Amino acid sequence: WPAFAGDIEATLALKRERNAVILAHNYQTPEIFHCVADIVGDSLALARKAMSVEADIIVLAGVHFMAETAKLLNPGKTVLIPDLGAGCSLADSITASDVRLMRQRHPGVPIVTYVNTSAAVKAESDICCTSGNALAIVESLGVPKVIMLPDEYLARNIAAQTKVEIIAWKGHCEVHERFSAADIRELRDAHPGVTVLAHPECPPEVVAEADFAGSTAAMSDYVGRHKPARVVLMTECSMSDNVAVEHPDVDFVRPCNLCPHMKRITLANIRVALKENRHIVTIDPGVADRARRAVERMLTI
Ligand code: 13P
Ligand code: SF4
Repeated sequence: WPAFAGDIEATLALKRERNAVILAHNYQTPEIFHCVADIVGDSLALARKAMSVEADIIVLAGVHFMAETAKLLNPGKTVLIPDLGAGCSLADSITASDVRLMRQRHPGVPIVTYVNTSAAVKAESDICCTSGNALAIVESLGVPKVIMLPDEYLARNIAAQTKVEIIAWKGHCEVHERFSAADIRELRDAHPGVTVLAHPECPPEVVAEADFAGSTAAMSDYVGRHKPARVVLMTECSMSDNVAVEHPDVDFVRPCNLCPHMKRITLANIRVALKENRHIVTIDPGVADRARRAVERMLTI
């Protein structure tokens, strides 16, 4: 990315100076994802890899719940998020008191919470999940019924694959809820033979019409394994840009939606974060241990 060469060099130099590593989600723009990040991946991979970071500082190029998860799993490190406004519509859809009410309403039913939530919500849960392991987590509990919060569509997409009864919440991802089954039909008409991959935060009717549904990492792996001649990723825009770099022989059709939260992170504010040591992610000690337990329990599955 020649247009960013100066910014990239400056960011790499600051990273060395501060003994920092940059963890970047698959939705970060290519100049961040490919040129300055040390570790990239889906939410599950970022959580796992955050645990073993040895550098002093972790800069989380992603959204706030990802930075909180990194802090929970590696509490001795300074975790920075370049923009505190990088939130998530799913995380905003539920509070800790909502989870307590669900527990009261369904006594004895385990609560599985998507990682796209605040630490306070995680603290009220029995176990976390990501889009990459949700089915395995639900089935690992060995119970006939679970509560799965807060993504209604992820819950319904998992319910379609298991005998476990799932009680859902009403949260949605503002990016994935905008895709429709009609979009897929139009894409198939316009691009005959196109392979359609969808994120499980999409509505169930979208997942039903796709050729494959999986986490951002699973979509990327699918392209690598199947090498479709032409593919469309029903997910955030930067995903196709990042995967396309590794597969110049695959034709990416790109109707996509932007996540305004992910797009708050830029090379410029990553540099400010490194220079000025901000914004430091802290977690209320009253919730940290319980939230960590739910995330760590997930990582044992
Ligand atoms: P993944 O865990 O699949 O990377 O998804 C995270 C996310 O926020 C998708 O919108
Ligand atoms: Fe949240 Fe959706 Fe953005 Fe992912 S894409 S961070 S779920 S708003």
